[in-house]
Amino acid sequence: MKHKNLIDLEYMTTEQLEQTIRLARIIKDKPDIYKHACDGKIMATLFYEPSTRTQMSFQTAMLRLGGKIIGFDNPLNSSVAKGENIKDTITVISSYADIIAMRHPTEGSAKAASLYSSVPLINCGDGGHFHPTQTLTDVVTLDFEKGRLDNLKIGLCGDLLNGRTVHSLIKTMSHFEGNSFVLISTKELSVPQYIKDILDNAGCEYTEADNLKDAISDLDVLYMTRIQRERFSSEEEYQSQKGVFVLDTEKLALAKEDMIILHPLPRVDEIAIEVDDDPRACYFKQAEYGMYGRMALIVLLLRPEGSFSFKTPDPIIRTDRICSNPKCIITDPQQYYLPKNTYEKDGNICCDYCDRII
Ligand code: NCD
Repeated sequence: MKHKNLIDLEYMTTEQLEQTIRLARIIKDKPDIYKHACDGKIMATLFYEPSTRTQMSFQTAMLRLGGKIIGFDNPLNSSVAKGENIKDTITVISSYADIIAMRHPTEGSAKAASLYSSVPLINCGDGGHFHPTQTLTDVVTLDFEKGRLDNLKIGLCGDLLNGRTVHSLIKTMSHFEGNSFVLISTKELSVPQYIKDILDNAGCEYTEADNLKDAISDLDVLYMTRIQRERFSSEEEYQSQKGVFVLDTEKLALAKEDMIILHPLPRVDEIAIEVDDDPRACYFKQAEYGMYGRMALIVLLLRPEGSFSFKTPDPIIRTDRICSNPKCIITDPQQYYLPKNTYEKDGNICCDYCDRII
């Protein structure tokens, strides 16, 4: 099946990813060339969950390309508050807009929405699942700041269990030659097994660590993340994990001179403010670069049918095996109409929405 919905960055071939990064660089260096690229086009930004950077960088990206924006950032101000389902919202919005950027708290919601969209739909985060355009932001930053996407030793620190940006980034970087990973977290917040399986299958070296100070010295990239308070089932659980990892100047003194520090933001307390003045701190530049990456993505997705599209396997509808992930959209009674789509991978049947093995 060929389509233009970006649910996971894995949908892009390496060539498409490199093409997007190249275009992001051109747009950054010569923005005037693209300032009318989206004249007459409308983007809908549908944010069912809080966001600052992702939402505003998409909006700014569209405005800088000459396009216009509509949307909501508080579903309570839309018909969602009256009980409207995703299908109806997307069916209608896709008849108003030329492209949709959507964030939703439920895993698999972006895939579900894409089934009813007649225009390209970009996943801006679906629960703890994927966040492809943050990963695009991250790889654009690695390319701009390190000049390469391969042979990097990447440390990821913080909430590696719930951090969707971490999952998306590991998957993408595992495709490039010579990358290795240091996964720094508490035992409770370590990366899900399926991410370790991806690393094993890609033949990537990785180690797990529970101490940032010990792990920092030979990293090329340190990707800090916040502890995802909203994904914990109780405040006590969150409190027990909060504040365990803090990057400060004392720890940074042990790092390589050319290491770069990334963070998808927002920061809570995991990077001390004093670190912002260190030239290795790239997280604010990263947020700016993300806008160029998103401008490039919009330009490419709005090119005529077929010229920049993704190929994914046709789903198989099964009623005998149903996803039991309580965080998956398919288990939401309000979205009862969704087809029970699955696909097969390595002999397993997986949910087509949240990708968990059924
Ligand atoms: C991230 C997200 O929403 O997943 N933020 C972002 O998009 N820049 C990370 C986070 O919320 O911690």
